[in-house]
Formats: sequence, C-alpha cells, structure tokens
Amino acid sequence: MNDIDKIIEEASAKINSSDIAVLESVKNEYMGKNGVLTLILKSLSQYSIEEKKVIGAQANRAKSVIESEIEKRKEILKKMLIDEKMAKEKVDYSSAFYFPFAKGSFHPVIRTIEEITSIFKSLGFSVADGPEIETEWYNFEALNIPVNHPARDTQDTFYLEGMKNVMRTHTSPGQIHVMEKQQPPVKVIVPGRVYRNEASDASHSATFHQIEGLSVGENVTFADLKSTLTLFIHKLYGQDVALRFRPSHFQFTEPSAEVDVQCVLCNGKGCRVCKNSGWLEMLGCGMVHPNVFKAVNYDTKKYTGFAFGMGVERLAMLKYGIDDIRLFYENDLRFLKQF
Ligand code: PHE
Repeated sequence: MNDIDKIIEEASAKINSSDIAVLESVKNEYMGKNGVLTLILKSLSQYSIEEKKVIGAQANRAKSVIESEIEKRKEILKKMLIDEKMAKEKVDYSSAFYFPFAKGSFHPVIRTIEEITSIFKSLGFSVADGPEIETEWYNFEALNIPVNHPARDTQDTFYLEGMKNVMRTHTSPGQIHVMEKQQPPVKVIVPGRVYRNEASDASHSATFHQIEGLSVGENVTFADLKSTLTLFIHKLYGQDVALRFRPSHFQFTEPSAEVDVQCVLCNGKGCRVCKNSGWLEMLGCGMVHPNVFKAVNYDTKKYTGFAFGMGVERLAMLKYGIDDIRLFYENDLRFLKQF
C-alpha cells in the first residue's frame, strides 16, 4: 500500500513538467510494456488470492490516477502553448494608422453611375444589365435602324468576326432585352459600357458609358418624359440650373428631343466648353417608336412609353470640370486620387 502511494507521488512530481515529451515518457515509465505498474500487475500470480485482490486493485487505482493526471496536465500544456502562440502572433490593429498607402476610392465614372442610379431608383426605376456583345438585331433592327441607315456604318461600329455580332454602340438594346422579358408597366435604367469605332481625342473615346432609361405603360406621355428628366437634372446639377428640350431625331423614338442644360461652367454666358452657345447637350430622349414595340410584341394600341440615353463620362466631365475624356482611361493616379 505504501509503495503504491509512493509511486503515485513520485509520478505526480514528474507529471508537473512543462514538457509534453516528458509526459509521454512518464506514461511509458509506469504503464508501458516494462512499466512499474505493468510489472506489478504481471507479478500478481505469485501472491495469494487475498493479496492479489488488494494489490491488483491498488495498482489499477494508481494506473487510473496517473493516467488522468497526465491527461489533465496535457490539456493545460496545450492551452498554454496556444496562449503563447496567440500572444506572439497578435496583430496590432492600431498600426493600420501608419499604413503607408492612401486608401482606394471609386473611379469617377462609377461614382457618377452610382449617383445617377440612386436618383432614378428614388423615382421608382429599377436597374437592368445587358450584354456588351449584341447581334445586329438588338443593336439596330429592333430599334428601327434599317440595314442601310448611316448609324450602321462600319466607321462607327465595331463588327466582330463573321460580321454577325457587334460591340454595342449604345445601351438602347438594353431596352429590347428588358421588354422581351417583361410586360408593362416597365420603369428601368440600363447602365453600361458602349463602343464606337472612332479616333480618340479630348471629347471622343472608343469606349465610354451610357445610361439608358425606359418607361412604358398605359397613358405614358411626353409630359411624363419632361417631368422625369427635369427632376433628374435638377437633382444632379441643382434646382437652379436651366434646361431646354430641343427637337431632335432618333430612329427609335418619335417625337425625339435632346435636353440641353445651361452651361454649368459659365452659367450660360458662353465659354469654350459650350462653344459660346451657353448650352450643353446632356441627353437624347423621346417617345418610344411603335416599330420598337412591334419588335418586342407589345400592344402598340395599349401602351406608350418614353426612353432616354445619356453619356456618363460627359456628365462626369461637366460635374467635376474635367476637360479631357481620355483621363478616365489612363489610370493616372494623380487624376484618380482626386476622387
Ligand atoms: N441611344 C442614343 C445614343 O446613343 C440615345 C438615346 C436613347 C436617344 C434613348 C433616345 C432614346 O445617342
């Protein structure tokens, strides 16, 4: 009995180690093949039945005490190791204040799209997306632009191999995709990138962005078009800015108009940007042409609608006083950092 208690005491002292490897060797020393307790249990045959019972029970008790002490100690050591590691690997978030780079910001084109989108959302429009590669049908035919119309001139349009598909030249095919999927009432805008095959200069780029708008329903009138776009311009440029609707022509609208805004740079007095006219062209619009409704099987007797399209870069240039469209695509940090 005394021996067994001594064995437990001795083992406990060893188990107090802070080395996991030591714990393994202690286990072996007492419970292994030639372990102290293993040998005691093996030697039981030399004792009387009474002695066997007592010594056996004691040895087994010692075994389970030592085993559980080893397990407990192991858990403690593991936790200590983790704590130690955590302390070492701790990230000092306050050091983020010393991060040596400026934080990123949204590109002015994206910012402008977001701003315009949120104005139209507040007017009940939803937002749709369309493909940048279109068939000629979506880009032209469905929009009442016949085969020999000058807008199809290869000068303006990027044709893809086989001449079947084109890079969309405007976001108006987005109208067709929406109407194919949805019956009126429709109130949607379609922002996106468009492509035109033209030389780039301060005011032209082979790729730029447009936002298309479409509203179709029963009794949608030109007055709705006018009030919607007037509200939009006032929200974008301020309540005081003057605007005018000037008759124009688009194949997919009839009647058609363009909206001019009083030059935001010279307040209508006349300057280089507005070419001394005091007005800036902002967007194209009109009442949806019945041929467009026919292309998507809308009932032309029941429904009317208006559509509009605007160039995002142009609006951004006027809003931020940028005088060269190429700045949007050169990714010069000195330019981008200002937004
Ligand atoms: N798609 C025309 C353009 O690219 C703009 C427009 C859209 C005009 C919708 C009228 C109606 O110039």
